[in-house]
Amino acid sequence: MTQGEVTTAQLSATAGGIARAAQLLRAGQTVAFPTETVYGLGADATQPEAVASIFAAKNRPTFNPLIVHVPSLDVASEWVEMPEWAAKLGRAFWPGALTLVLPKAQALPDIVTAGHSSLAIRVPLHPLARDLLTQVGRPVAAPSANPSGRVSPTTAAHVLAGLNGRINAVLDGGACGVGVESTIIGGDTPTLLRPGGIAVEDIERVLGHRVDRLLHSDNPIAPGQLTSHYAPQARLRKDAVTAEPGEILLGFGPVTGDLTLSASGDLTEAAANLFGHLRTLDAMAKPIAVAPIPYEGLGLAINDRLDRAAAPRD
Ligand code: TXA
Ligand code: MG
Repeated sequence: MTQGEVTTAQLSATAGGIARAAQLLRAGQTVAFPTETVYGLGADATQPEAVASIFAAKNRPTFNPLIVHVPSLDVASEWVEMPEWAAKLGRAFWPGALTLVLPKAQALPDIVTAGHSSLAIRVPLHPLARDLLTQVGRPVAAPSANPSGRVSPTTAAHVLAGLNGRINAVLDGGACGVGVESTIIGGDTPTLLRPGGIAVEDIERVLGHRVDRLLHSDNPIAPGQLTSHYAPQARLRKDAVTAEPGEILLGFGPVTGDLTLSASGDLTEAAANLFGHLRTLDAMAKPIAVAPIPYEGLGLAINDRLDRAAAPRD
């Protein structure tokens, strides 16, 4: 179990690096690894003390359950009960940026699910994550690899900026392609619990009907929905067309900023740049103004993360 200050090993994206990461995870240690969305902080989900180390390293409240990562839809089906709608989504979007919250089919330590009878499960697409999960051969619990309440990491350097000395290793796979966390769908009938890297419109197309949206609810079915969550240190204001004196501007499309999410107005590019740009602007220690982002496709996830960053907090 990770306790106090440890040396965080930096592992490279080589066969040796992946094998070492898998060995550490099997030995009950914490390893940050790249996924296509953001870096996750992994531990063997079958070892309660290893999972407890994740909560300790992140300073994460233990009532907030974790996503479990597995290498395939077949393995996922061993851990959760899959109604037809879930199997349909799994076939369409896995491996990929979709998490399903479904009834547990096998016992896992309570700390993984915070005592809930449902389990959040995902099959990531990133080749390093897939190799790693195959080699570990056990489900890997992994929240985003950032101190609780801070912006998710999209590079190994971001991981180290927040968690160096608090985790056993980080596997460096370069920058994450998607850049925002997975879309979470759960409930008795498919309900959007968190917008993310897969557009809800694409999910609705596969299901053939609209899904309910349970966003900004006080009922924490996805407790990460707590409002102030993805917070940079600086104050943030949305829907700005120009910066006010003293502000720095994060641009999009026609609004050119000090940094711009996507000059061409491409939401996929904007999602990939979001957390890195927020970090860069945050380091300037000035209030941040953000250009309007349309509420469609990945724009839903981008607006969601900006709303949380903009929310009042203590
Ligand atoms: O893209 C992602 O989803 C990344 C990568 C590493 O896979 N992971 C991630 O994990 O964003 P995390 O812990 O930062 O967010 C997981 C969200 C939280 O809001 C948590 O409350 C929710 O999933 N969640 C986990 N288990 C749940 C459950 N059994 N029921 C409802 N919500 C759950
Ligand atoms: Mg997170």
